[in-house]
Amino acid sequence: MPSPWIVQWAGLIAAGAAVLDIAAGGGRHTRFFADRGHKVTAIDRDVSALAAQPNVEIVQADLEDGSPWPLPGRSFGAVIVTNYLHRPLFPALLDALAPGGVLLYETFMEGNERFGHPSQPEFLLKDGELLELARGRFSIVAYEARLVSEPKMAMIQRIAARLIGPRASRPAS
Ligand SMILES: C[S@@+](CC[C@H](N)C(=O)[O-])C[C@H]1O[C@@H](n2cnc3c(N)ncnc32)[C@H](O)[C@@H]1O
Repeated sequence: MPSPWIVQWAGLIAAGAAVLDIAAGGGRHTRFFADRGHKVTAIDRDVSALAAQPNVEIVQADLEDGSPWPLPGRSFGAVIVTNYLHRPLFPALLDALAPGGVLLYETFMEGNERFGHPSQPEFLLKDGELLELARGRFSIVAYEARLVSEPKMAMIQRIAARLIGPRASRPAS
Protein backbone atom coordinates (compact mmCIF):
# COMPACT_ATOMS: atom_id res chain seq x y z
CA MET A 1 0.00 0.00 0.00
CA PRO A 2 1.36 3.43 -0.82
CA SER A 3 1.78 5.86 2.05
CA PRO A 4 -1.35 7.97 2.60
CA TRP A 5 0.89 11.07 2.55
CA ILE A 6 2.18 10.22 -0.91
CA VAL A 7 -1.32 9.48 -2.14
CA GLN A 8 -2.64 12.72 -0.64
CA TRP A 9 -0.07 14.94 -2.35
CA ALA A 10 0.56 13.04 -5.59
CA GLY A 11 -1.73 15.50 -7.36
CA LEU A 12 0.86 18.24 -6.92
CA ILE A 13 3.01 16.53 -9.53
CA ALA A 14 2.46 17.63 -13.11
CA ALA A 15 0.70 15.09 -15.30
CA GLY A 16 3.23 12.90 -17.07
CA ALA A 17 6.21 14.33 -15.16
CA ALA A 18 9.11 11.98 -14.53
CA VAL A 19 9.26 10.69 -10.95
CA LEU A 20 12.32 9.52 -9.04
CA ASP A 21 11.66 6.98 -6.27
CA ILE A 22 14.65 6.90 -3.94
CA ALA A 23 15.37 3.67 -2.03
CA ALA A 24 12.28 2.28 -3.68
CA GLY A 25 12.27 -1.04 -1.81
CA GLY A 26 9.42 -3.23 -2.97
CA GLY A 27 8.25 -0.49 -5.31
CA ARG A 28 4.94 0.47 -3.70
CA HIS A 29 5.36 4.09 -4.83
CA THR A 30 7.00 3.13 -8.11
CA ARG A 31 3.88 1.16 -9.02
CA PHE A 32 1.57 3.86 -7.70
CA PHE A 33 3.10 6.57 -9.90
CA ALA A 34 3.56 4.33 -12.95
CA ASP A 35 -0.13 3.44 -12.70
CA ARG A 36 -0.91 7.19 -12.67
CA GLY A 37 0.88 7.58 -15.99
CA HIS A 38 4.25 8.83 -14.80
CA LYS A 39 7.58 7.55 -16.04
CA VAL A 40 9.29 6.36 -12.87
CA THR A 41 12.95 5.77 -12.10
CA ALA A 42 13.31 3.52 -9.08
CA ILE A 43 16.68 3.32 -7.31
CA ASP A 44 17.71 0.87 -4.64
CA ARG A 45 20.81 -1.10 -3.79
CA ASP A 46 18.61 -4.20 -3.75
CA VAL A 47 16.31 -4.23 -6.74
CA SER A 48 15.26 -7.87 -6.38
CA ALA A 49 11.76 -6.90 -5.22
CA LEU A 50 11.20 -4.37 -8.01
CA ALA A 51 9.10 -5.79 -10.80
CA ALA A 52 9.74 -4.78 -14.39
CA GLN A 53 6.82 -2.70 -15.58
CA PRO A 54 6.16 -0.40 -18.52
CA ASN A 55 7.27 3.16 -17.77
CA VAL A 56 9.56 1.98 -14.97
CA GLU A 57 13.34 2.27 -15.08
CA ILE A 58 15.08 0.25 -12.39
CA VAL A 59 18.50 1.45 -11.26
CA GLN A 60 20.57 -0.70 -8.94
CA ALA A 61 22.90 1.57 -6.99
CA ASP A 62 24.33 1.87 -3.52
CA LEU A 63 23.55 5.44 -2.51
CA GLU A 64 25.78 5.41 0.54
CA ASP A 65 29.09 3.92 -0.56
CA GLY A 66 30.60 7.14 -1.88
CA SER A 67 30.00 6.28 -5.54
CA PRO A 68 29.11 9.18 -7.84
CA TRP A 69 25.41 10.03 -8.09
CA PRO A 70 24.01 7.40 -10.47
CA LEU A 71 21.83 9.76 -12.53
CA PRO A 72 24.12 12.67 -13.45
CA GLY A 73 22.44 15.44 -15.40
CA ARG A 74 18.97 13.91 -15.10
CA SER A 75 16.12 15.94 -13.67
CA PHE A 76 12.70 14.91 -12.47
CA GLY A 77 9.31 16.46 -11.85
CA ALA A 78 9.17 14.80 -8.45
CA VAL A 79 11.44 13.09 -5.97
CA ILE A 80 9.84 10.61 -3.58
CA VAL A 81 11.55 9.39 -0.42
CA THR A 82 9.84 7.26 2.20
CA ASN A 83 11.24 5.40 5.18
CA TYR A 84 14.81 6.19 4.19
CA LEU A 85 17.35 8.72 5.41
CA HIS A 86 20.93 9.27 4.35
CA ARG A 87 21.67 12.94 4.96
CA PRO A 88 24.67 13.21 2.58
CA LEU A 89 22.21 12.58 -0.26
CA PHE A 90 20.17 15.72 0.40
CA PRO A 91 22.03 17.95 -2.12
CA ALA A 92 21.76 15.30 -4.85
CA LEU A 93 18.02 14.90 -4.20
CA LEU A 94 17.47 18.63 -4.56
CA ASP A 95 19.65 18.82 -7.66
CA ALA A 96 17.58 16.04 -9.24
CA LEU A 97 14.46 18.22 -9.13
CA ALA A 98 13.50 20.29 -12.16
CA PRO A 99 12.32 23.85 -11.45
CA GLY A 100 8.80 23.57 -10.08
CA GLY A 101 9.44 19.96 -9.15
CA VAL A 102 7.81 18.39 -6.11
CA LEU A 103 9.53 16.83 -3.12
CA LEU A 104 7.48 14.30 -1.17
CA TYR A 105 9.52 13.07 1.79
CA GLU A 106 8.31 11.00 4.74
CA THR A 107 10.40 9.16 7.26
CA PHE A 108 10.94 8.53 10.95
CA MET A 109 11.99 11.27 13.32
CA GLU A 110 13.48 11.60 16.77
CA GLY A 111 11.12 10.17 19.35
CA ASN A 112 10.66 7.02 17.33
CA GLU A 113 13.12 5.23 19.62
CA ARG A 114 10.19 4.56 21.99
CA PHE A 115 8.52 2.38 19.43
CA GLY A 116 11.43 0.34 18.10
CA HIS A 117 13.35 0.66 14.87
CA PRO A 118 14.74 2.79 13.49
CA SER A 119 16.19 4.17 16.68
CA GLN A 120 19.69 5.35 15.77
CA PRO A 121 20.11 9.12 15.31
CA GLU A 122 21.46 8.75 11.76
CA PHE A 123 18.14 7.22 10.71
CA LEU A 124 15.91 9.71 12.52
CA LEU A 125 15.11 13.22 11.32
CA LYS A 126 15.66 15.94 13.87
CA ASP A 127 12.83 18.23 14.87
CA GLY A 128 12.06 20.50 11.90
CA GLU A 129 14.77 19.00 9.71
CA LEU A 130 12.67 18.68 6.54
CA LEU A 131 11.46 22.25 6.98
CA GLU A 132 15.06 23.37 7.28
CA LEU A 133 15.98 21.43 4.14
CA ALA A 134 13.22 23.15 2.19
CA ARG A 135 13.55 26.62 3.67
CA GLY A 136 14.21 29.35 1.13
CA ARG A 137 14.15 27.05 -1.86
CA PHE A 138 10.74 25.45 -1.73
CA SER A 139 7.19 26.54 -1.43
CA ILE A 140 5.97 24.33 1.40
CA VAL A 141 2.53 22.91 0.72
CA ALA A 142 2.23 20.68 3.76
CA TYR A 143 4.36 19.55 6.69
CA GLU A 144 3.70 17.30 9.63
CA ALA A 145 5.69 15.97 12.55
CA ARG A 146 3.53 13.60 14.51
CA LEU A 147 2.80 10.28 16.07
CA VAL A 148 1.03 7.80 13.81
CA SER A 149 -0.57 4.50 14.76
CA GLU A 150 -0.73 2.93 11.29
CA PRO A 151 0.84 0.75 10.01
CA LYS A 152 2.47 0.80 13.46
CA MET A 153 3.11 3.32 16.21
CA ALA A 154 5.84 5.64 14.98
CA MET A 155 7.07 9.22 15.11
CA ILE A 156 7.26 10.52 11.59
CA GLN A 157 7.98 13.74 9.78
CA ARG A 158 6.77 14.48 6.28
CA ILE A 159 6.75 17.26 3.78
CA ALA A 160 5.19 18.13 0.45
CA ALA A 161 7.01 21.02 -1.20
CA ARG A 162 7.56 22.57 -4.59
CA LEU A 163 10.95 23.81 -5.73
CA ILE A 164 11.00 27.49 -6.53
CA GLY A 165 13.48 29.21 -8.83
CA PRO A 166 16.40 27.57 -10.58
CA ARG A 167 17.78 24.26 -9.49
CA ALA A 168 20.17 24.74 -6.64
CA SER A 169 21.63 22.68 -3.88
CA ARG A 170 22.58 24.21 -0.56
CA PRO A 171 25.79 26.19 -0.93
CA ALA A 172 28.76 24.85 0.98
CA SER A 173 29.11 26.59 4.33
C1 LIG B 1 12.56 0.69 4.81
S1 LIG B 1 12.87 0.42 3.10
C2 LIG B 1 11.82 1.65 2.34
C3 LIG B 1 11.40 1.27 0.97
C4 LIG B 1 10.43 2.22 0.29
N1 LIG B 1 10.93 3.56 0.19
C5 LIG B 1 9.10 2.22 0.99
O1 LIG B 1 8.82 3.12 1.78
O2 LIG B 1 8.35 1.25 0.78
C6 LIG B 1 14.49 1.12 2.90
C7 LIG B 1 15.08 0.85 1.55
O3 LIG B 1 16.34 1.52 1.47
C8 LIG B 1 17.20 0.73 0.71
N2 LIG B 1 18.57 1.08 1.02
C9 LIG B 1 19.18 0.98 2.21
N3 LIG B 1 20.46 1.35 2.11
C10 LIG B 1 20.66 1.70 0.81
C11 LIG B 1 21.78 2.15 0.09
N4 LIG B 1 22.96 2.28 0.69
N5 LIG B 1 21.64 2.43 -1.22
C12 LIG B 1 20.44 2.27 -1.83
N6 LIG B 1 19.35 1.83 -1.19
C13 LIG B 1 19.45 1.54 0.12
C14 LIG B 1 16.89 -0.69 1.13
O4 LIG B 1 17.34 -1.64 0.19
C15 LIG B 1 15.37 -0.62 1.25
O5 LIG B 1 14.76 -1.00 0.05
